Amino acid sequence: MNASDESYLSPPRDRKGRVFWLIDKAGLGLEIGPSYSPLAPRAEGFNVEIVDHLGTEELRKKYNYNPRIEDVDYVFDGRSLVDLIGSEGRYKWIIASHVIEHVPDVIAFLRDCERLIDGDGVISLIVPDKRFCFDHFRPHSDVSVAIDAHLAGRRMPSPGVVAAGLLYNVFNGGKHSFTDEDRKEFQLRFNADQARRSMEAAKTLYKDCHVWCFTPASFRLLILDLQVLGFIGLHEAAYFSTDAKNSEFIVSLRKNGKSKTKREELLLDLEGEIAAGSAHVPIFAEHLNP
Ligand SMILES: C[S@@+](CC[C@H](N)C(=O)[O-])C[C@H]1O[C@@H](n2cnc3c(N)ncnc32)[C@H](O)[C@@H]1O
Repeated sequence: MNASDESYLSPPRDRKGRVFWLIDKAGLGLEIGPSYSPLAPRAEGFNVEIVDHLGTEELRKKYNYNPRIEDVDYVFDGRSLVDLIGSEGRYKWIIASHVIEHVPDVIAFLRDCERLIDGDGVISLIVPDKRFCFDHFRPHSDVSVAIDAHLAGRRMPSPGVVAAGLLYNVFNGGKHSFTDEDRKEFQLRFNADQARRSMEAAKTLYKDCHVWCFTPASFRLLILDLQVLGFIGLHEAAYFSTDAKNSEFIVSLRKNGKSKTKREELLLDLEGEIAAGSAHVPIFAEHLNP
């Protein structure tokens, strides 16, 4: 674990403590894409608005009336988050758990979040570590693909991303995410026909998938480089790395202040992450769907 904020004295051990580190919970917040596992339920006193891919009733139906589903305030309809919500500087905080890896244009998403928070606001992102989920064998996404997707105005995951997302998709010990401590054998999940069909469909339809594959250092490097290139005004305010017992990391962003991360250090961290990932000899078990 690690955090880059100066006020960091006693690191929270629990997931929520890390997500809400630096956040003033009294202010109005936005949770993006909570689906059936909200991190800021109103029943716990959070002053929050919710944006999701379906409205309240459709979400309830889709997820078997899971009682954890919150009332949805805004439903994605293809417009940007700022246009959908209709105001800027509205929130003191924004949280999004396992969302950013799905968005077709990661720069547009970050810019929208930046415009939606007020001056001191905090954006807290929980991101699956690609080494410990079904993306294990996919390469990490770097700034080049983020820029190209943005300049191309991507509104849907590209057919190429959809194809790769299926061809290299693995379970580990039957699970879609796992921990470093708990690695088992890998299994390919989809066959070539399924990948080809999804790739074809993605030419005209929105096929939800993991567009982006991040390790902690690759994500932190992306934030730094998007900032130095002038795409975003956000910088990293705190960071909690993936550890041996979980498969995700958390990065909090702010618009005021200056980044303390350094490209050289992040590049070396990234090399270490990749080397550690390949130090384990992966074993393939049966193909799940030959
Ligand atoms: C895997 S679910 C995460 C659910 C929950 N937050 C969690 O941590 O388990 C992915 C969420 O990403 C959201 N999402 C997918 N595509 C998105 C997009 N283009 N823009 C914003 N959110 C998106 C969906 O609403 C969906 O709820």
